[in-house]
Amino acid sequence: MKLRPRCDETPAWQALQSHHQRLGRHFDMRADFAANPKRFAHFSQHAPHVFADLSKNRIDAEAEALLMQLARECGLEAHRDAMLAGEPINSTEQRAVLHVLLRNQPAAHAQAVLEGAVAEAAMPEVNATLQAMLDFAESIRADEGITDVVNIGIGGSDLGPQMAVVALQAHALTGKRFHFVSNVDGDELGEVFGQISPGRTLFLVASKTFTTRETMTNALSARRWFLEQGGQDVGRHFVALTTNLEAAAAFGIRTCFGFRDWVGGRYSMWSAIGLPLAIAIGAAGFRALLGGAHAMDLHFAQQPLERNLPVRLGLLDVWYRNFQGFTSRSVAPYHHGLRRLPAYLQQLEMESNGKSVDLQGRPLGYSTSPVVWGEPGTNGQHAFFQMIHQGTDIVPVEFIAVREPAHDLPGHHAQLVANALAQAQALLLGRADAGGHRNFSGNRPSSFFVLERMDPASLGALVALYEHRVFVSGSIWGINSFDQWGVELGKQLAQDLQPRLASGDTSGLDASTAGLLRQFRPRF
Ligand code: F6P
Repeated sequence: MKLRPRCDETPAWQALQSHHQRLGRHFDMRADFAANPKRFAHFSQHAPHVFADLSKNRIDAEAEALLMQLARECGLEAHRDAMLAGEPINSTEQRAVLHVLLRNQPAAHAQAVLEGAVAEAAMPEVNATLQAMLDFAESIRADEGITDVVNIGIGGSDLGPQMAVVALQAHALTGKRFHFVSNVDGDELGEVFGQISPGRTLFLVASKTFTTRETMTNALSARRWFLEQGGQDVGRHFVALTTNLEAAAAFGIRTCFGFRDWVGGRYSMWSAIGLPLAIAIGAAGFRALLGGAHAMDLHFAQQPLERNLPVRLGLLDVWYRNFQGFTSRSVAPYHHGLRRLPAYLQQLEMESNGKSVDLQGRPLGYSTSPVVWGEPGTNGQHAFFQMIHQGTDIVPVEFIAVREPAHDLPGHHAQLVANALAQAQALLLGRADAGGHRNFSGNRPSSFFVLERMDPASLGALVALYEHRVFVSGSIWGINSFDQWGVELGKQLAQDLQPRLASGDTSGLDASTAGLLRQFRPRF
C-alpha cells in the first residue's frame, strides 16, 4: 500500500491547531446555537437505522471542514477502499480485513459493498458457511432436548455475541437459556455447571485461534465435567467456532463452523462466532442483523465524507483526542438490552486503537484511543454522572435511545427517554448558581443516537457504525487498528509464573512480583 502522510505532518493538522487556538478551549456551543439557527440541521443526520445528533459537540463548521480536509490529506478514502478491496491492510500480520464481506448479502434490491476479485473468490465459502451455520442454528432451535447453550470464549469470541444476545432478548426464542463463560476464574464455569445438565446442554467452544488458554482451560473442564456427569457423545454436545479446524478436531469436536484469518476477533460476531446469536434469534433474525450492518457498510463506502456518519464520528474523535485533549468518552445506552454494549465497545475501540507506533513502527507524537467506558442510563445518572456534570474533566457522552420500546409498561419509556434528553440538555445548558456548589458550567459535549427500535437490523447497523468509526480514527492516526500485540506480553509472563506458584521459585523475578507470588504460596 502507498505510504500515507502522517496526520501531524499535514497542512490540515496545522490549520486545526490554529483554529483550535483561535476558538479557544471554551468554544461555547450555546452561543453557536444562538448565532446559527442551522446548527442542529448541520450537525445531525440520518444514516441507515440510526439518526444521529452531533450538534451538542464542541465543534464548529470550520473545524469540521478542516477535519474533512485532514481526512482527504491522510488518504482516508483510499485506505477505506483498500480495506474493501481486500488488500492486506493489517500489515503487521499480513492479513486482509474483510469482516464486511460476511455481511455482503445483497437482498434483491440492494447492492454489494464488495465487488471484484476478492469478494468473488471468497463469497461462495462465506455463503456456504453462513447457510450451514444457520441450518444448524435452526436445528438446535427445534431441538427441545437442548435447553441450555453455553458459549465458551473470550474477548471477541464472547463480547460480541453476548452483547447481541442480551440486546435482542425480545427477539429470542423462549425455552432455551444462553450462558457465556469467558473468564478462567473457575467460579464462572462452576456457576453455570450448577444450572445445567449434560444431556440437555450444547457447548460452543468459540475461539478464532483455538489456542487461547482461558478458553482451552474452560473447554477442557467443560468436557471433563460433561463426561463425569454421565454425558454421552461429546461430538453431539460440543461444537467449535474457529479458524483452526485441526485443533478443534483434535479436541474431539465433529461439528465445526469456520471462518478465515481476515476476520479479526473483535470484528467476528458476523461470522461463525455469531452462532449463539443465530440460535437465539433464528436464521431470519441473523440475516436481518447482517442486512442492517450491510446497509451501514454501503453508507460508509458510498456517502461523501461530509454526510458519512462513521467518518464524522471518527473525525470528531480525532478532534476531541488530539486538539481538545479529552481523554475518555462515556457511552450511555438508554436501553436495558444494551447493557453489555460499553464492554463490547471497549474491546472494539481500545484493542483496535490503543497503539503508540505508526504503521512503520515509528513512535507517535500524538494521542490515540480514548478510554471508552459507560453504563446504561438511567443507572449512570445516579452514580458517576455527578463527575460528568460538575467534575474537572470534560467527558463527551454518547446517548443511545430507541424510539419504540419492546415492552408495554405504561409510562416507563417516556420517563426513560425524557431522562436521556434531559441529561444531554443539562450538559449543554448548565445552570448558574452564585454559591458555586449547585453551579453547572454547561457547554459539556454529547452525541445522541436514536434507533428505530431494538431489532436485529438496527443493532447490526449500530455495531457496523462503531466499527467503521474506529477504522476512521485509526486511519487518521496512521496506526494498525487490526492487530493487538499489546496483549501478548502478559500472556507469556503468565505462562512463566503459573509453574512458579507451585514450585515457589522466585529466581530472576522483580521484587514486587516475587513478594506477591509468595503471598499465594500456601494456597498452591
Ligand atoms: O487476547 C486478545 C485476543 O487475542 C482478542 O483479540 C481475541 O478476541 C481474544 O483474545 C480471543 O481470541 P480467540 O478467539 O483466538 O480465542
